Amino acid sequence: MTDRYALIGHPIGHSKSPLIHGLFAKATSQDLTYTAIEAPLDGFLDTLNRFRSEGGRGSNVTLPFKLQAFEIATDPSETARLAGAANTLKFGPGERIFADNTDGSGLVNDIQRNQGFTLAGKRVLLLGAGGATRGAILPIAQQRPALLAVANRTADKAHALRQAFAAHVTLQTGGLDELSGEAFDVVINATSTGLTQTALPLPDSVFAPGALAYDMVYGKGLTPFLRQARTAGAGTLADGVGMLVEQAAEAFTLWRGVRPDTRAVIQQLTVPLV
Ligand code: ATR
Repeated sequence: MTDRYALIGHPIGHSKSPLIHGLFAKATSQDLTYTAIEAPLDGFLDTLNRFRSEGGRGSNVTLPFKLQAFEIATDPSETARLAGAANTLKFGPGERIFADNTDGSGLVNDIQRNQGFTLAGKRVLLLGAGGATRGAILPIAQQRPALLAVANRTADKAHALRQAFAAHVTLQTGGLDELSGEAFDVVINATSTGLTQTALPLPDSVFAPGALAYDMVYGKGLTPFLRQARTAGAGTLADGVGMLVEQAAEAFTLWRGVRPDTRAVIQQLTVPLV
């Protein structure tokens, strides 16, 4: 029987997930369908429960429902618990719902496997203190960087993350205006400025010579952040296409027990950084 999976979000019109999971299923000969379901803003739970009652085996969840997805889980992973948000649900046995947050591990896999940057021993900077940063902290910390720093426009939100993660990770936190004189090997833009194409007030010196500059947004070309990184001496520029495909691969592996190859799919979805 064909197993059913879905992405639930609002809006979901732009989503590449059905394409990605369709390609994974074909490449691994898995008998499944994956569709995108737009839930009303006040109707996430109803939509999810309907999908489950119709035989859904698992789902991805995107904005603005990732917090609710975590809250309904009976068995959240440690990463989802610390992020306070889930993007992947696995239904069963019975009424149980396992929740994971594969965004961070997708990011780490893209950086290490596809970009060829080992995080161990490196100085890593996360820009932003919202949900995207929360999901990335634990998976990055597990790679044992020399330093993991979080800088945010509103410094207090970064400091709050230091406290929230204190039992697991030692974070250096502060405002964007406190970055002068600091250089990082990996600089990750987890703010929403990639979407709005706004520049961040960063000193050029945050990019160590040859650094990896990574913008989590996908398909926006050379964002103001990546443009600054290029002129400031970063060695590698990346947008979030690899993260998008790798987080999907993590979810697919969790559901099916088979790890799909990601390279061809990343290649197919890559939009040139110009
Ligand atoms: P997400 O869940 O995608 O991380 P979010 O929780 O709304 O989204 O967080 C957005 C992040 O982008 C925040 O860190 C925000 O900074 P503030 O906490 O100071 O609001 C950051 N951000 C958004 N626009 C920004 C801008 N123009 N300059 C700097 N940071 C910005």
